[in-house]
Amino acid sequence: MEPRDVYNKPSLFKTVGVFLSLLVYMYLLCTVYEYTLANQATRNPSVGTNFGRSKNHHNGGENTTLIQRSSLPRYYISFSSDNNPSSKFYSVWNEETVQRNSPDKRKIVVWNSTPKWPPKNPCPGMPQCVFTKDREQVKEADAVLFRGIHGFPLVYNKTNFPKVRPRHQYWIYMPYECPHLTRDIDLASYGGVFNWTFTYRNDSDILATWGHITQTYQELSETPPDPNKDYAKQKTELVLWYVSNCYKHLSRFSYVTELKKHIKVDILGACGNESHCPKKDRQCFIEHLHQYKFYLAFENFICVEYITEKFWDNSLRNEIVPIVLGAPRDDYERFAPPKSFIHVDDFNSPKELANYLKYLDQNDDEYNQYFAWKTQPPNNLPETLDGRYCEVCKKLFKTSPTERKVYNDLDKWWRGENYEFCEPLIYDGSYKHPRNAIHFN
Ligand SMILES: *[C@@H]1O[C@H](CO)[C@@H](O)[C@H](O)[C@H]1NC(C)=O
Ligand SMILES: *[C@@H]1O[C@H](CO)[C@@H](O)[C@H](O)[C@H]1NC(C)=O
Ligand SMILES: *[C@@H]1O[C@H](CO)[C@@H](O)[C@H](O)[C@H]1NC(C)=O
Ligand SMILES: *[C@@H]1O[C@H](CO)[C@@H](O)[C@H](O)[C@H]1NC(C)=O
Ligand SMILES: *[C@@H]1O[C@H](CO)[C@@H](O)[C@H](O)[C@H]1NC(C)=O
Repeated sequence: MEPRDVYNKPSLFKTVGVFLSLLVYMYLLCTVYEYTLANQATRNPSVGTNFGRSKNHHNGGENTTLIQRSSLPRYYISFSSDNNPSSKFYSVWNEETVQRNSPDKRKIVVWNSTPKWPPKNPCPGMPQCVFTKDREQVKEADAVLFRGIHGFPLVYNKTNFPKVRPRHQYWIYMPYECPHLTRDIDLASYGGVFNWTFTYRNDSDILATWGHITQTYQELSETPPDPNKDYAKQKTELVLWYVSNCYKHLSRFSYVTELKKHIKVDILGACGNESHCPKKDRQCFIEHLHQYKFYLAFENFICVEYITEKFWDNSLRNEIVPIVLGAPRDDYERFAPPKSFIHVDDFNSPKELANYLKYLDQNDDEYNQYFAWKTQPPNNLPETLDGRYCEVCKKLFKTSPTERKVYNDLDKWWRGENYEFCEPLIYDGSYKHPRNAIHFN
């Protein structure tokens, strides 16, 4: 299971399926996340893993797997302005052409597949591009895909990787999630191993994001919205937050705790009140959402360009204004439709944000401005993506057969030279300990 592929056009009859998979995905994400946390909190290097573990090289030892650099509460997030890692972390060169097995076909072996991953037919539109879980076929593969999160060797060990490695074969690193969720893995030991990266970050070789602006507009064009619609009219409620990860080290909790002092925030999910919607009832969820003016699309982790389905699916696909906490404002501006969100960084404090929301609540015209993007697509929208697995295929067809690339410092590429791509987390003791959880009831 994996994040739903947002680029496949949704159709009405798929809505239920899409919702189910979204739920399953969110559930799995929580599970993976909690597994990671639990694992991390309890791990003993000699027990529970076949891979061993190198001492984490950027912290004080087993007790502090997370970097302790900031203290909560923290309302401002600032990143290094250089969020554009340069090629110093990888090398690109050309070699003499190696004859491909079949020039008009591409084969990708998924090395550490699971029963649910990859999906059954990863790229239905390109039958000339074959994905297989059969490790025996690795000799003929044009690329090998490695899912770099759950179950991934914590330290590079060649016994876990293919024995043969043709020079023209690309090894692709697909971490799925943001650097905080791969923090257990000693990526420094993976220098010189992978040729391509396949992540949500725009400087990846292959892009795998949760949403795409052009796709968003394509969907809207199927049922064009009325430019004069009064979105405020039908709404009776103010701020909604659906949340299931209740750990107070996540900086969004301190933000919401403060915000709640100044404006009513309805909190549903594991950390708040029980939702009246049955778990898999997307329609109920959407109807409930539509009663609200604002949705807290707060990311679990604050990392550069890390904008997930909380923004794209829960907010933009619905008639609700997302309030975002996560990637810097500039990232949202580059990826999202113009003026489609409210960023917490625009306010000096949660109180200021609360005042602004109250103001919008009283000014329908101003509020409706946050939906103007729906009927005003920007000029020169970027090319749309075809679904993340098709992007792998396209990249394989597109790349010159002589081109070689390798990430000699995957760790720094992924987390930043000084770990600046994600906001540091605070961690003291066990996540599972009730002391570290927050519940709003
Ligand atoms: C880890 O925590 C234990 C128990 O609190 C303590 O005895 C030990 O010194 C700590 N180790 C480090 C490296 O901080
Ligand atoms: C690599 O894995 C093999 C098999 O699991 C193990 O025997 C070996 O000790 C590992 N090597 C290192 C350096 O961890
Ligand atoms: C939970 O529901 C109760 C009763 O409706 C309400 O008073 C309370 O504010 C709600 N809590 C949150 C965090 O939404
Ligand atoms: C992503 O990177 C490409 C260049 O590789 C650039 O043209 C594009 O503007 C970037 N997109 C965003 C949203 O930053
Ligand atoms: C991938 O990286 C390996 C290890 O550095 C290298 O030998 C190989 O030529 C690279 N392959 C491609 C297709 O870039």
